[in-house]
Amino acid sequence: MHVLKRVQPVLIAILMAAGLLVAPAAAQQAGSSNPTAQAVSEQQLLDELNKIQGRVTIPDRKAATLQQPQGRDYRGFHEGALPWIAGIAVLGILIVLAIFYFIRGPVRTLARESGVRILRFNTIERFAHWLTATAFIVLGITGLNFVFGKRLLMPLIGPDAFSTWSIWAKLAHDFVSWAFMLGVLIMLVAWIWDNLPDRYDAHWLKTGGGLFDKSNRTHPPAARFNAGQKLIFWTVVLGGIAMSISGIFLLFPFSYTDINGMQMAQYVHATVGVLMVAIIIAHIYIGTLGMEGAYEAMGSGTVDLNWAKEHHSAWVERQQAKGTIVTRSAPHPAE
Ligand code: HEM
Repeated sequence: MHVLKRVQPVLIAILMAAGLLVAPAAAQQAGSSNPTAQAVSEQQLLDELNKIQGRVTIPDRKAATLQQPQGRDYRGFHEGALPWIAGIAVLGILIVLAIFYFIRGPVRTLARESGVRILRFNTIERFAHWLTATAFIVLGITGLNFVFGKRLLMPLIGPDAFSTWSIWAKLAHDFVSWAFMLGVLIMLVAWIWDNLPDRYDAHWLKTGGGLFDKSNRTHPPAARFNAGQKLIFWTVVLGGIAMSISGIFLLFPFSYTDINGMQMAQYVHATVGVLMVAIIIAHIYIGTLGMEGAYEAMGSGTVDLNWAKEHHSAWVERQQAKGTIVTRSAPHPAE
């Protein structure tokens, strides 16, 4: 006992020394005492939090957000995926249409002109269509400038001219968007009834609307709009609504949403926008080069009776039965 009492301080000293030696090693192993390991890395913070955010006393509360990791995802999308999606969609459809045109050629009307012209689209319908079309072309060109301008146009015309053009392009994009929204709204009201599904759609789709029959003999019956046109109509209406809502978010930044919402609006606006451009290129093709007699319907508003019978037989029959067919004198006398 006496001996123990005498060695006690020595034992305590040894244990303390051992503790001092062992503890840092253990702590180091756990990574807690290494000053470098202890420092929280930026990545750890980003993993833990959605944002690195503080407090500010200035009116612009957005300045309190120092880092928002989703911004990097958005930048990755805008600089990486988006130009690819846009390039493949737009170039892809142009190549497909060119091949289609050279292999199949335009859809022709088999019957000769009857000389009787009937009204297909009235003035309000044509006004709405051309308002939307003109606005869409301006929006499409100026919109694609956001995606490709810096890469493709700036090297060609130089930074000064590109800057001037882009300022005007952006202004045009912002203001012309209202004309597009108005046009889509009028088309929606004017044509929604004729674009509801009907009993001709399934057969029309099954036969590809006769588009792939080079002999031009396949003419599945259709009412005022066939299934293909209905797909265009709903693309324009639903795509137009998505573009309008996301566009309004972008026109008035941070008025209705925070930074995450702004990025979401940009994802929607850019993706739907480039896909719509590709689909509308196909529509423009079929309305001009792709189908004989189609352009006149939207140009003068009238079509030849035989054209209407071939492409929209159920529409003609219904009007004839009701006696509501509106004839117009032919611009060119029939042969
Ligand atoms: C230069 C451009 C354009 C041309 C030449 C064109 C031509 C035509 C033609 C000829 C029709 C009537 C087809 C028929 O008689 O059955 C039509 C209808 C229509 N167009 Fe266009 N269009 C153009 C641009 C646009 C744009 C930009 C939009 C919308 C963004 C659009 C939306 C529509 C819709 C919804 C219809 C009714 C459904 C249909 O026929 O597909 N068009 N267009």
